[in-house]
Amino acid sequence: MKYLRDFGLKNQRVLLRVDFNVPIENSQIANDFRIRAILPTIEYLKKQQAKIIVATHFGRPNGKVVENLRVDLIGQRLAKLTKQPVIKLDETIGVKVEKAVSLMKSSDIVMLENVQFHPGERKNDPAYAKSLAKLADFFVLDAFGQAHRDYASITGIHKYLPGCAGLLLEKEIAMMDKVLNEPRRPLVVIIGGAKMATKTSMIKKFLASADDIILGGALANTVLWAKGIAIGKSVVEKEMSNKLEAINLTNNKLHIPVDAVASIDRSGQAPNRVAPVGKTNKDEMILDIGPDTIRLYADVIKQAKMVLWNGPMGLFEVDAFASGTNEVAEAVVKSEAFTVIGGGDTISCLAGLDLLDKIDHVSTGGGAMLQYLGDGNLEGLEALASSNYK
Ligand code: 3PG
Repeated sequence: MKYLRDFGLKNQRVLLRVDFNVPIENSQIANDFRIRAILPTIEYLKKQQAKIIVATHFGRPNGKVVENLRVDLIGQRLAKLTKQPVIKLDETIGVKVEKAVSLMKSSDIVMLENVQFHPGERKNDPAYAKSLAKLADFFVLDAFGQAHRDYASITGIHKYLPGCAGLLLEKEIAMMDKVLNEPRRPLVVIIGGAKMATKTSMIKKFLASADDIILGGALANTVLWAKGIAIGKSVVEKEMSNKLEAINLTNNKLHIPVDAVASIDRSGQAPNRVAPVGKTNKDEMILDIGPDTIRLYADVIKQAKMVLWNGPMGLFEVDAFASGTNEVAEAVVKSEAFTVIGGGDTISCLAGLDLLDKIDHVSTGGGAMLQYLGDGNLEGLEALASSNYK
């Protein structure tokens, strides 16, 4: 793998691919943590006197121009954080963009429009990759959060431009490798949320290498269901049953809920009750872990020397079902462990509790983090490593 420090980039036009896919609430950026995470790379490039062309995706516009997925707000935030003007363009390729880039001076920042407005991005169309490459002399991949996608500006571009990993990508991989290869013990892995398909490899892997695995959220419902335990109308991913067969659900490292907060309604308006697992009624859903489970999980977390956490314990966006996730968050930050967290929901929970700065490494990757931890590869990294551009 090649890294930024291996190159001199004075006066070079550098295309910097980032993941500024930030959460938006009430038309405002709810959390700019993904933008802040790139600042060291931008600072580095400025010191090198490079011309910085920033490219990101935002949302899933599906190859079309979607007005509310333009990246203007993000460009404005980047300008504020870098304390310098960011020239935001309305396209990603073409004559106007080439002209704007040709006028750049060293250390200027230009920001392209959302790269996924172009249908060629997600199709990894070589013509699109080539047009992007034409804008720059060098490519820096720093979009850890999207490095698991086989897209033009992630994997396709390496054919047309020399490049390397950015400082964020380098740091993220180093952190993941630390958890995978040099864990402090006990290593406690906490996995919650839904989207089981993205988490089974990781669970399987950590059943071998971690000391404890704590499950919560819809994912725990699916495991309870697979064990034949009654879960009422809880969210469950039945299509995952064959994948679950690969996991030894009786492994004593695996901690699953012993009680739950259940209700017939997800909104928090209807009454809810604590029920031992297996005793939920047919019309009830499990929406959070219960107090006994919280105590058990907190005890496990207290012993940890390293904690890896991705995914909430329940429907934490609704106050009535937030205790499990909040208490786990408190236990994680109170522990002496080296802590690594990732995933949009986990980050927004900790940000809401004002605990984000108590975490040792907050990963900018959701799916990318899970894939790297589970399978040990990312399409973007592989393309970078195998790039034979001379
Ligand atoms: C994310 O938010 O996890 C990344 O930006 C990836 O987005 P995607 O799932 O739309 O590729």
